[in-house]
Amino acid sequence: MNIAIDGPAGAGKSTVAKLVAEQLEYLYIDTGSMYRALAWAVITKQVDVEAEQAVSDLLKQNHITLKRDTDNQQHIFWNDEDVTDRIRTPEVSKFASVVASYAPVREQMLVLQRELAVAGNVVMDGRDIGTHVLPDAEVKIFLTASIRERAERRLQELLQKGHQTDLAALEAEIAERDKRDMEREVAPLRQADDAVLIDTTGMTIPQVVERILEICKRSGE
Ligand code: CDP
Ligand code: CDP
Repeated sequence: MNIAIDGPAGAGKSTVAKLVAEQLEYLYIDTGSMYRALAWAVITKQVDVEAEQAVSDLLKQNHITLKRDTDNQQHIFWNDEDVTDRIRTPEVSKFASVVASYAPVREQMLVLQRELAVAGNVVMDGRDIGTHVLPDAEVKIFLTASIRERAERRLQELLQKGHQTDLAALEAEIAERDKRDMEREVAPLRQADDAVLIDTTGMTIPQVVERILEICKRSGE
């Protein structure tokens, strides 16, 4: 069985996808980290983010790999460089949604993502998993929450890491990114027709995980 989890920024996709994967002993694949790694490279290598061809070539000429480390955490590599801890900044988030709007970039990512899922029993999260990457996934979840709650979740995360930011700025950043993700021409963020919608506003992480596990159980019966 494959499980696709899509939704907007801060809906809780990666947190719950990881826990569901642990429970089921499935492989968790965070596709957002792949767009983030490319965005990190665009910034670091000073490639013009508006230059679609140059961004696509950068991806073509390098390698993005996901590896499970000794700590059992998923690490993402740009060639031989572990960039896991460098891709969670607001700047990378913004650039990720820009590079993710380019068709030649998405085509390459699609190939990589399907290769990663080829053995089955994966929990994959992103924006277009249920609609494009794994259209035949047995379970499709569309996670969402109010924008205020999603911004508050991000705020807590950033404060814990010692970053200074405010709720209004985060809300604006998330709204801008969601808009770009929903309005792009190629594989925009949208709920697949056969996906189950879960509004996680006011729900705890264990409650969301439990709900998804129930849906998986029902689908396997
Ligand atoms: O992957 P995505 O952007 O959808 O969200 P995330 O990074 O998994 O979750 C954002 C934050 O919300 C994390 O710090 C989670 O701990 C938190 N969260 C929450 O507070 N309540 C939930 N029901 C789900 C996530
Ligand atoms: O964690 P958060 O929800 O903030 O973002 P993410 O899942 O790490 O994804 C970062 C960006 O990559 C998104 O804003 C999308 O533009 C893009 N993305 C995408 O287009 N398709 C995917 N399957 C995953 C991410």
